[in-house]
Amino acid sequence: MRKKIVAGNWKMNTLLKEGMELAKAVEKLEKEKTSDALVIIAPPYTHLSRVKDLIQGVKLSAQNCASEEGGAYTGEVSPDMLKSVGVEYVIIGHSERRAYYGEDDEELNKKTKLALSKGLKPIFCCGEVLEEREGGKLYDVIRQQISVGLKDLSKEEMAEVVIAYEPVWAIGTGVVASPEQAQEMHKFIRGLLVELYDDQVAEDMTILYGGSCKPSNAAELFANPDVDGGLIGGASLKAEDFLGIVNAY
Ligand code: PGA
Repeated sequence: MRKKIVAGNWKMNTLLKEGMELAKAVEKLEKEKTSDALVIIAPPYTHLSRVKDLIQGVKLSAQNCASEEGGAYTGEVSPDMLKSVGVEYVIIGHSERRAYYGEDDEELNKKTKLALSKGLKPIFCCGEVLEEREGGKLYDVIRQQISVGLKDLSKEEMAEVVIAYEPVWAIGTGVVASPEQAQEMHKFIRGLLVELYDDQVAEDMTILYGGSCKPSNAAELFANPDVDGGLIGGASLKAEDFLGIVNAY
């Protein structure tokens, strides 16, 4: 069965105390939520173990992880380390990681496999930049990102993966994809999963939309048959806005 999910990507925002307050506020509002969507938050690494103690209904995600198990990789954080502080999900391949830190599809595939082997659930991101959309390359880009990034996973592993479609031109810009644009791409992704895996994998896959999602536009995005929730940046930094999106379901 496909899960509905609304996940908050805090990015490099909040100091520890602010992050703890935000987590508490999200947990409180989650208890009163009117939808059955699963609520996930992805605070910065430094906050994870403290935030874990403040949440129950809300699930915990990291924003990234290393592609190596452990050892001499200064500055990296391994999937095992994340597991050891109670993290369940990990965002992999966010467009900011791809663009600013040079993470390519092969490396993201390595991270995804390692995360899965350690019992973390990847929230695997894909998305085209504006020139790619305008140049008509958007489907090729998404096909490449998914077919390489999620290469050689078993069906059982695919059942643990969440996909987030985040058109780069919509991230943090205030320009949200139209419900039609989102549905079109989500449908394409589901079709691609039929091709790469099978009907069951495709049917059960949770596919989130991300990019300037707000309480005011969430309902029309989530009303689409292939949109199973959202990955929320800016609006996840205010508990009321974030839960407003959850309750839009
Ligand atoms: P945004 O970011 O909601 O601020 O556009 C979404 C994301 O990057 O996950």
